[in-house]
Amino acid sequence: MVKIGYGGDYNAEQWPAPVWDQDHKLFGEAHIDTLTVGVFTWGLTQPGPDVYDFTVLDRIVERAAAEGRRICLATGTGAHPAWLAKRHPEVTRTDFEGRKHRYGQRHNSCPSSPVFRRLSTEMARRLAQRYGGNPAVIAWHVGNEYGGACYCDLCADGFRGWLRRRYGTLEALNAAWYTTFWSHTFTGWDQIEPPSALTEHWRGPDHTAFPGITLDYLRFMSDAMLANYRDEKAAIRESDPHTPVTTNFMGLYRPIDYHRWAPHLDFASWDNYPPDDRSPARMALAHDLIRGLKDGQPFWLMEQTPSVTACRDVNPLKRPGVMRLWSWQAVAHGADAVLFFQMRAGRGASEKYHGAVIGHAGRADTRVFREVAALGAELSALGGVTLGARTPARVALLFDWDSWWALEISDGPSRLVRYLDVVTAYHRALWTLGADLDVIGVTAPLDDYDVVVAPALHMVKGDLADRLSAVAFRGGSVLTTFLSGRVDENDNAFLTDVPGPLGTLLGIRVDEWDAREPVYVNRVRVGDATFQSRLLFELVLPQGAEVVGRYEEDWYAGTAAITRNDFGAGHGWYVGAGLDCAGVTWVVRQVLRRHGLLGPYPDLGEVETAVRVAPDGSRLLFILNHGSSPVDLPVVPAGEGLLPGDPRTLEPYGVRIVNMIA
Ligand code: GLA
Ligand code: ZN
Repeated sequence: MVKIGYGGDYNAEQWPAPVWDQDHKLFGEAHIDTLTVGVFTWGLTQPGPDVYDFTVLDRIVERAAAEGRRICLATGTGAHPAWLAKRHPEVTRTDFEGRKHRYGQRHNSCPSSPVFRRLSTEMARRLAQRYGGNPAVIAWHVGNEYGGACYCDLCADGFRGWLRRRYGTLEALNAAWYTTFWSHTFTGWDQIEPPSALTEHWRGPDHTAFPGITLDYLRFMSDAMLANYRDEKAAIRESDPHTPVTTNFMGLYRPIDYHRWAPHLDFASWDNYPPDDRSPARMALAHDLIRGLKDGQPFWLMEQTPSVTACRDVNPLKRPGVMRLWSWQAVAHGADAVLFFQMRAGRGASEKYHGAVIGHAGRADTRVFREVAALGAELSALGGVTLGARTPARVALLFDWDSWWALEISDGPSRLVRYLDVVTAYHRALWTLGADLDVIGVTAPLDDYDVVVAPALHMVKGDLADRLSAVAFRGGSVLTTFLSGRVDENDNAFLTDVPGPLGTLLGIRVDEWDAREPVYVNRVRVGDATFQSRLLFELVLPQGAEVVGRYEEDWYAGTAAITRNDFGAGHGWYVGAGLDCAGVTWVVRQVLRRHGLLGPYPDLGEVETAVRVAPDGSRLLFILNHGSSPVDLPVVPAGEGLLPGDPRTLEPYGVRIVNMIA
């Protein structure tokens, strides 16, 4: 690649050939150079059990290649053909309530179905044999947005096999699941059932009698879908040894443990559909999470809408300038490609109102097309300076699917405490204060970081506690919160004081905690300031740590809520209360300031900054104004501006990139 890839999902099979002429002409005008092709084409390429037909796909690929466009070729297995479900009902899923599904929808295949596994793999194999040598094909896109879950008998068998491999013996399994509770001791593998509404759950998916079983099923289901992806990748590799393979992730998506998948992707990619139109911090978190999957290697923004989504109850329109801003935000956080869903708006079915680069009328003189074309021109003018650039982060935010799952399926202390709410609160503070950060899994090395923030680190596995202690010991700061250090990898409580193996680093003990309805507020005093806290209040007993903040209300007024422990040359911070945004920001500011890691504009609320260091050493500072008003920069960064615009003032939704070496 010589520049940031630009384009997106192109479902040309929905259109007759004359429309393709118009499409490619408009793609040329918009500097579109990358097309994702074939995402839902299984029904087209395999119209019957023994019939493969690549005529249409051949034409789409040949045409795109002839136009000089690069192709991200999908295997098309994200939705199975109708004939397949009719002939082999085993390929459809059984849901959490136990309802066996019939044909319909997409992302609809049982991951454990041998028929699905055999035929999806065969499709990938044939596609790779046919197109793997085509120089226009620069990447493989396996499946689509893997997710959901299945509870069928095939999955039950798969689960039992997965458990045998994990535990070896029923004794080990019974111990891990604590099955003496409620008379659950298993004496045969065939007694084990997937935890569903028919078995261990009541009042919904988060309410399980046996968190250990539910946790293992979440792990198993993520692994089962990973096996589907790996099957297809292996089939591609039989004839195409080099073209990189990916699948499009969904950012902060609970059902799939992306850290367990990451080693099997050649590069990471994801689809950015923020839940509202005010989510810049959350998007930054997701970008950083995806970049962290491959050790900081650049990723692709595989999908975003140029304008509106269709699947929500209410689908707001991106304001003029916002699509450009969010595209540059992706680049600022590590994207080497910026792609849309969709290139041309489908005429029928559920996505006909979904935004597209080209609308139903095929016009180039729409606001959306003009903005897409303008960004295309800008990306072309920028060239390849950002390609392969890395984020020089000194701050790590730990993100852990096991902690997410374990915390949210736990009975007590409060179902209102959600993992993502805690993580996003601490991330938002880091983001607001301008710290460049990596979002990493709990087994990633910590040696490069001065600050490690681990919100709600509920489960502590392996040598993590020792590695966190080592960060503080050599002078770094470790910050964690309530509900950390509670359980081991089987979701069983540590037989020590809370916070388990983190106790020495943090210099505290927690014997009691109080969970309250959201209307209840306890204030936490920190020096001259007071912050509000809600939902969860741990009563922190210092065992050497210094008290930084104390509760002001209730019978535990005066008890510690925030502590800082001197550990080696550094600190272990603990926040036991559900602090409000201002409180979290106050704590995070203390930590960042100690290490000189506040960004250039820590007090400009809606201005985001991010740094990337290019392979040639250029230090690129991205400055993004997420606000709808102009902003004067208090400090004008020295260097060469790579995008047009006044270096001192950012217009609404304005973007600057400054090469600080120049
Ligand atoms: C997802 C899918 C696409 C499309 C878009 C619409 O990301 O991958 O096929 O459905 O959503 O927003
Ligand atoms: Zn199944």
